[in-house]
Amino acid sequence: MTRTTGQAWTKTDWRAKPRVQMPVYPDADALHSAEAQLSKYPPLVFAGEARKLKKQLAAAARGDAFLLQGGDCAESFAEFSADNIRDTFKVMLQMAMVLTYGAKVPVIKVGRVAGQFAKPRSAPTEMVNGVEMDSYKGDIINDIAPTPEARIPDPARMLQAYTQAAASLNLLRAFSTGGFADIHRVHSWTLGFTDHEDADKYRDMANRIQDSLDFMAAAGLSGATNHELSTVDFYTSHEALLLEYEEALCRVDSTTGKWLAGSGHMIWIGDRTRQPDGAHVEFCRGVQNPIGLKCGPSTKEEDLKVLMAKLNPENEPGRLTLIARFGAGNVGDHLPRLIRTVQAEGANVLWSCDPMHGNVIKSSTGYKTRPFDAILREVQDFFAIHRAEGTVPGGVHIEMTGKDVTECTGGIRAVSDEDLSSRYHTACDPRLNASQSLELAFLVAEELQQSRAALRAAV
Ligand code: PEP
Ligand code: CO
Repeated sequence: MTRTTGQAWTKTDWRAKPRVQMPVYPDADALHSAEAQLSKYPPLVFAGEARKLKKQLAAAARGDAFLLQGGDCAESFAEFSADNIRDTFKVMLQMAMVLTYGAKVPVIKVGRVAGQFAKPRSAPTEMVNGVEMDSYKGDIINDIAPTPEARIPDPARMLQAYTQAAASLNLLRAFSTGGFADIHRVHSWTLGFTDHEDADKYRDMANRIQDSLDFMAAAGLSGATNHELSTVDFYTSHEALLLEYEEALCRVDSTTGKWLAGSGHMIWIGDRTRQPDGAHVEFCRGVQNPIGLKCGPSTKEEDLKVLMAKLNPENEPGRLTLIARFGAGNVGDHLPRLIRTVQAEGANVLWSCDPMHGNVIKSSTGYKTRPFDAILREVQDFFAIHRAEGTVPGGVHIEMTGKDVTECTGGIRAVSDEDLSSRYHTACDPRLNASQSLELAFLVAEELQQSRAALRAAV
């Protein structure tokens, strides 16, 4: 594998590289002042946490853990509330429980949260009622309101995004360690379930977990004070798209002297910004956080080799997660060739499946949606191909919310094209609702169980 170790790096080097998908701020003074302000603020995460996550991701790459990454497509200023954060967190815990219980594997929980504000778009401008305007690029950049003025990139939005991220992370830390995530409360996480088949399956599982806990307590094996059972690690992640924001929050870790993206525990590079010589790869290669790399159908083997060498020159386990997002029906054309490239390079990567971004369609009623069936098929193909290749399917990456929205069609409670208008709230792509998320978790647990049995049989 080509090594690029030892090449000097500074947090501003990306500025000399070609950039795509980033806003052009019309007011340079306002931009500088927002950057100066942000640079003085505390980082949102601590380097030791990013290192701990990296170790856990390394375990997932070996098949000893599983990554569950999920949350909004785009966080929004308007939808920011404690209830929304709590409900998403709760569904992530439920999904993690289904996976841990079903596949007997520890689950690493990473939210698309506390920084997931900037969006790449398929076109830089759009026409609304005959008026041309910049496309909406996420609340950290411009306003979703369909007027040319609202769409002007405003750097002060970076400060509001930082504030929201800090408050979100604060609440998530409180939920993770303050009792909410205590496994003894597994039944209380079912509050708000309406009756459907998966809710019953979940309740049944919660009963069995409760039985095991009662048994352990009676045998004196654990108490309510057991730290492992009463708290969870919950990490944050987002696409590192807006590099002015990332640079301003970049800090040197005093224990190692290495750079850290202080904006979140894990950052990823999107499918549209992964040019090997581009600004986004240049920024991400220099920070020590775990890095995700979205791989879509246009990912060339040669590019992947260069990207792996640049982003993980030391071939450090847990550093690089490849997030496959090909679309149902396309996985067989692309995943095997990329898995073989990774194997031939001897590269340490964690393979995760994003079954969302290759499956966007326009519904008959005009809404951007994703059929739940297509999402399930992409997940099944991802697992089946890893079984055939003898490699480890290490995680899933999804867009979901704890709310009962109607954005993706299908699922047990069968959301139809006509239903989409009733609770379509996303600021960007359609998300799985709570029921669809749980249904997906049961399917992933089954697939994972089979894959783990196959890998064990192979050794
Ligand atoms: C996303 O994760 O929201 C996204 C835009 O994904 P991708 O880069 O894979 O298209
Ligand atoms: Co999205």
